[in-house]
Amino acid sequence: MEDQHNITTHNPSASQRLIDRFGREIKYLRISVTDRCDLRCVYCMSEEMQFVPRSQLLTLEELYRIGKTFVELGVNKIRITGGEPLTRRNIIQLFQSLGQLGGLRDFTLTTNGTQLPQHAAALKAAGVTRINISLDTLQPDRFHAITRTGELQRTLAGIDAALDAGFQRIKINAVILKHRNHDEVVDLVRFCQERGMDISFIEEMPLGVINEHDRAEAYYSSDQILHDLQQVYSLLPTTETTGGPSRYYQICGSDTRVGFISPHSHNFCDSCNRVRMTAEGRLLLCLGQEHSMDLRRVLRAHPLDDEPLRAAIIESMNIKPKGHDFDLTSQPVLFRHMNATGG
Ligand code: GTP
Ligand code: 5AD
Ligand code: SF4
Repeated sequence: MEDQHNITTHNPSASQRLIDRFGREIKYLRISVTDRCDLRCVYCMSEEMQFVPRSQLLTLEELYRIGKTFVELGVNKIRITGGEPLTRRNIIQLFQSLGQLGGLRDFTLTTNGTQLPQHAAALKAAGVTRINISLDTLQPDRFHAITRTGELQRTLAGIDAALDAGFQRIKINAVILKHRNHDEVVDLVRFCQERGMDISFIEEMPLGVINEHDRAEAYYSSDQILHDLQQVYSLLPTTETTGGPSRYYQICGSDTRVGFISPHSHNFCDSCNRVRMTAEGRLLLCLGQEHSMDLRRVLRAHPLDDEPLRAAIIESMNIKPKGHDFDLTSQPVLFRHMNATGG
């Protein structure tokens, strides 16, 4: 890959830092490297999906250029997402090149785990600091139903591979839906405790039309989950943060942290520190809105000069919206499904 020199000093001047109209500084970039996935989770995709033609995706070199430019502008956390990021061909090369950027405090990945047996060791060697793995149920039949296609055993093998590769603070992401998996919250926490992992429980967000369930009926709030867990565990609220949206509790007498991502019941937009890139180079300023900037056009118009790209990213701060307007009771206003942004 070209242009891989290390960046060792990251001290962007005030005018070059990414600060939006509401005074929020952007330090966290989420890069979706593909909208494709080997699973079809019911809250994420509809049964029939049209994916972006491969010819329209940013190349691995272009993705690296984007990551490098954001780091020069003060971003210190990059998360690679999908779809399922590990299904993209040669993706380890991108991890290897981004892993050499000097300014990253956290270099992370969100995955469904199915490809980790092949890739966990290479990810660790590339400098990935943490991995979040999606797992909503420990019951094989439910896993198959929620993912529409998947086998629980494959994701469990992926989790084992990540543990074997030496990753610390692996985090399980569980989207909790009433009547599908809400009765498993204690089992999921126990599973994480036994393996020294953390867990985040996520309230479903209404991105794209889905046909499997009524999102309002399936809503199971973070407060309800906390209440269910408190019947079994003592949980202490903490002020710890990973720079992501989770609010964490510590299980007394254990290393495991339980996080809650509660876009409906505890809106966290005021402290938003992140933006996300789609695989075709659209910079989305908010997960829950359409405000975006076409960085692919800028990149390709100036293949040898990063300055226009830097200027476009700084300019995009003027259109970052205040927050989302998620409403589970009406049809989603966003046609984009979650797999287009990786969350
Ligand atoms: P950590 O770095 O471990 O804190 O991870 P993270 O929670 O930032 O990222 P992850 O990919 O694990 O995302 C977990 C969930 O948080 C997903 O469902 C995302 O959609 C959701 N999420 C992340 N950022 C935002 C955001 O800005 N707004 C909303 N509404 N949800 C978000
Ligand atoms: N609402 C909330 N979380 C979702 N995810 C995918 N779709 C949705 C949705 N509609 C989660 C995945 C993964 C993370 C990136 O986002 O389970 O853990
Ligand atoms: Fe794939 Fe993740 Fe969407 Fe499930 S949530 S279909 S694993 S991209």
